[in-house]
Amino acid sequence: MNEIVFKKDLCPKITLFRIKTPELVSRAKAGQFIILRAYEDSERIPMSIGGLDRENGLLTIVVMEVGKSSAEIVRMEEGERFLDVVGPLGVPTHIEDFGGTCVVVGGGVGIPPILPIAEELKAQGNKVIGIIGARNEDLLIYEEELGSVCDDLIITTDDGSKGMKGFVTNALQKLIDDGENIKFVMSVGPVIMMKNVAKTTEPHSINTWVSLNPIMVDGTGMCGGCRVSIDGKSKFACVDGPDFDAHKVDFDELMKRQTMYVPQEKKAYEQYLHKCKIGLGRSS
Ligand code: NAD
Ligand code: FES
Repeated sequence: MNEIVFKKDLCPKITLFRIKTPELVSRAKAGQFIILRAYEDSERIPMSIGGLDRENGLLTIVVMEVGKSSAEIVRMEEGERFLDVVGPLGVPTHIEDFGGTCVVVGGGVGIPPILPIAEELKAQGNKVIGIIGARNEDLLIYEEELGSVCDDLIITTDDGSKGMKGFVTNALQKLIDDGENIKFVMSVGPVIMMKNVAKTTEPHSINTWVSLNPIMVDGTGMCGGCRVSIDGKSKFACVDGPDFDAHKVDFDELMKRQTMYVPQEKKAYEQYLHKCKIGLGRSS
């Protein structure tokens, strides 16, 4: 259980893991998440589900090295086991036959979680268009995986090195302007991207959902760490979400709360990298 059976660096600082967790995989649905802990003294960190191989009981996660905890994970190797992988957590994405085009929008390391959602939307008989964006071609991930599921896949890069030059929201605006009959939009990525996806679809009253990733601690609705404001009311992303109606989310508050611990996280990361350098970390 919890064994890493496959590891692959997708691009600098972004690593994909396939983990053997048959029981969790048999119950998990698109849009849910897990919380994992690498070692006894590690932090519990929430991770989106980036793929479900039900036949082989494999869970895919994609980890970007941004701090101490993620640095510790990306140094784990095939054959090692996570101490715990808890889940599936959260409410699955609401998926039905929406009777028109569904657009899944993923930005950066927010792209993997849109794959199981796109698969489920297709399984329900929807036409699915994917829009994925990265800062540049080298940071673009999951192109092949989404290309094989979506009816059409639009790629954007901020610098124009691949696909359309610009943000995912530029591609979404173009689809709307071109008269695509969009009935449902699901978006996962940086908060500023999700905020702008919401701004793009709101004037057209398009049913739009986002997957929020505030700071989480227990993942069970007890600690209050993941509080978000939805339509002026407090909700907990771990138990009420992570998906919420994009037109009701207070994105500015979320952005502020996400930066609360940045100085502490930066310090812990620097200390960890220093320990690795002098041979006191788990590996280098
Ligand atoms: P990034 O900063 O490289 O941006 C990725 C893409 O998002 C860009 O290429 C662009 O198309 C779009 N984008 C960025 N800024 C935008 C703006 N102002 N307006 C419109 N579109 C914009 O992304 P990254 O560094 O890979 O970070 C990905 C983020 O996704 C992280 O913040 C991570 O926490 C988040 N994430 C969220 C979830 C979730 O469940 N919500 C899951 C995984 C990752
Ligand atoms: Fe503690 Fe959601 S993570 S309430």
